[in-house]
Order: sequence, then C-alpha cells, then structure tokens
Amino acid sequence: MKVPFLDLKAQYNSIRDEIENAIQQVLDNTAFAGGPFVAKFEEEFASFCQCKFAVGVSSGTSALWLVLSNLGIGPGDEVITTPNTFIATAEAISFCGATPVFVDIDEHTYTLNPELLERSITPKTKAIIPVHLYGQTADMDPIIEVARAHGLFVIEDACQAHGAEYKGHRSGSIGDAGSFSFYPGKNLGAYGEAGAVVTNNAEMAEKIRMLRDHGQSKKYYHSIIGSNARMDGIQGAVLSVKLKHLNIWNEARKKNAQLYHDLLADTPYVITPLEADYARHVYHIYAIRIQDRDALISTLVEKDISCGIHYPIPIHLQDAYKFLGYQKGSFPVTELCAEQLVSLPMFPELTQEQVEMVCREIKCFLGS
Ligand SMILES: Cc1ncc(COP(=O)(O)O)c(C=O)c1O
Repeated sequence: MKVPFLDLKAQYNSIRDEIENAIQQVLDNTAFAGGPFVAKFEEEFASFCQCKFAVGVSSGTSALWLVLSNLGIGPGDEVITTPNTFIATAEAISFCGATPVFVDIDEHTYTLNPELLERSITPKTKAIIPVHLYGQTADMDPIIEVARAHGLFVIEDACQAHGAEYKGHRSGSIGDAGSFSFYPGKNLGAYGEAGAVVTNNAEMAEKIRMLRDHGQSKKYYHSIIGSNARMDGIQGAVLSVKLKHLNIWNEARKKNAQLYHDLLADTPYVITPLEADYARHVYHIYAIRIQDRDALISTLVEKDISCGIHYPIPIHLQDAYKFLGYQKGSFPVTELCAEQLVSLPMFPELTQEQVEMVCREIKCFLGS
C-alpha cells in the first residue's frame, strides 16, 4: 500500500462535478480577474473567519505584504516573527523594506514563544507576525497584551490555519488582520495561486482592495501606488465550492490526527503534536519529533510512505537571511525542531489503514 504525503486528486474526485460547474460559470461570464466570483467568496470567507471583511488576493505572500504595506511599514522599521516558518513570512517583511526580527518558538506548540517577545522589542518595532504553524494558532492573548503595551500591530500569519481557533475565535479574527494562503495543498486550497486578507477594520479592507489593484478604486484613477495582486475569478469560484466542505475536511484531519496520537501514544522516542488548551488545531501538518529523523524518513520512503520536513533550515540560517547576522545557536528551540521534526502523511481522505501502516512502520523502525 502506498501512502502519499498529500492526495489532491482524491479530494478533486469527491467534488469534481461541483468544481467543473463552478469553473464553467466563470468561463461563461468571462469573469477572469477579480469580479463577482471573487466578491462572493470574499463574503463567505469573511463570515467563516468571524470577520467583517475579506479581500481576495493573489497569494498568502501578497496577503502578508499588502497588510504590512497598508500599515505604512517600511525601511528602518522592524517586524517580529519566528524563524520556524515558511520563508514567505520573512519575505513579506523584506519586500516592504523593513527588517525581520526573530523570536524563538515554544517547544510544545512550535509557535512564537510569548515569554521571549518583549525583550526583542526596540523603538523601531512596528508589528508582530505570529505564525499559526501546522494548523494551530499561536498563544494570542499574551502576544496581544505585549503588542498593545508597546503600540504594535498584530498580523496573524494564518496561511496554515484555515478554521483553526483560539479560545473559540477563528484564526485571522484575533489580531488587526489575518493573512491566508490558498496554495493548493492547504486545508482550503485553490486550483492555482490565491490568498486573502481578513480584518474587522473597514479602512484597512478598503485600502488593501486598492493596493491589490494598482491603487485604484475607479478604473484608471490611481490615488495610491499599488500593485497587481488580485485573486482570479476561477480561484474565487473554486474556493467558494471548497469552503462549503472545509469543516468536514478539517474534522477528518482531526480524526486522523487522533488516530496517530492513539497509535503512537506509548512509543518511546516519539513526541506527538500537542493540541494546546486554548486551541482548535486543524492539522494542516501532523509533525512528530524524533531524534533519528533522516533515517526514519529513508526507511518510510522504502515502504512507499512519503513524509515532509517543515522546515529543514530555519530562516535565520538560510543564505538569503545571512545578512541579518544571526548564528547557529541564536534560536535553540527552532534549531532543535528543525533537526527532529518530520511531517507524516496528513489529508482528509487518508484512510485508517494508511495511518495504521505509517505507525506500524515507525514502531518497527524504533524496534518497539
Ligand atoms: C506560514 C506561511 N506563510 C506564508 C505562506 C505563503 O503563502 P503563498 O505560498 O500562498 O504565497 C505560506 C505558504 O506556504 C505559509 O505556510
């Protein structure tokens, strides 16, 4: 039996007719760039996120960058985030001309450690981007408390956390704005590139609508300098179809996660993910920690089981960010996790037999 890391085809097959019908409608209406299908999805996604506004954009990276640039963050400013994230979080800060400042993660949730936050704030700090990694939100209350005390914006990187909750609040609705990616492999994935900004701030939503569309609110009247970061119509239509299934898919992920937890519970040397008391984890990624990670992956690959590593090199040690001057040892928890984390197959359509096989092979590898 083969166990893929992700199976987008299985999901497509389960909604094929709905998707093809939705795409056909976009074609019939030639509503390709922005337009009514994007507007419809924006309304639905805002409501899903318990927010007043959603603005559909071209990717999660542009969603982050548009929020930062809307806040006027630029050269000379610092923005705090963690080094244990996809590089896009830091890139968005860099695109604005600002400097990313990293804070290490909590060893159990792999998200920004609020206890380390305050000491990294300087007079140049303008914002904090907690990353809701693997489908679980960061511990937002203490982060927001520090941010408010220092007059900083909080932008949630919710690119891996569609439908995740913090104390009952949906990800994206907790800070000043939330940024989402709909990259195809996400819990809510487009059939191409797409992203969204969600916020309760009408002024911010309006300005981001302009920024994503060359700074215009009326065609060819450009009041600010913007860019082309629009969502395309086909993605809007596909996402509307898929959003209706998201709760069920997230529940299926949670069920698979529970099965992994149960089967790996008493396995020595394996640290399974923690669902924090405050969280509804939606398991975009199910990452375990194990010392001999690379050998485990090779063994699983031999058995036709695909795994991932999120992420093998922390951002502060990437060549692209050498200029920031961080060293090995700067963020010990992130660095330890980068050596030990392995992401097991996780998607809604994963079967019980597949999860059982993965756990069996892990135990066999460990000789337990
Ligand atoms: C945490 C995080 N932030 C930002 C992004 C960027 O999203 P996109 O690939 O849609 O630009 C991703 C995508 O993988 C992500 O996982």
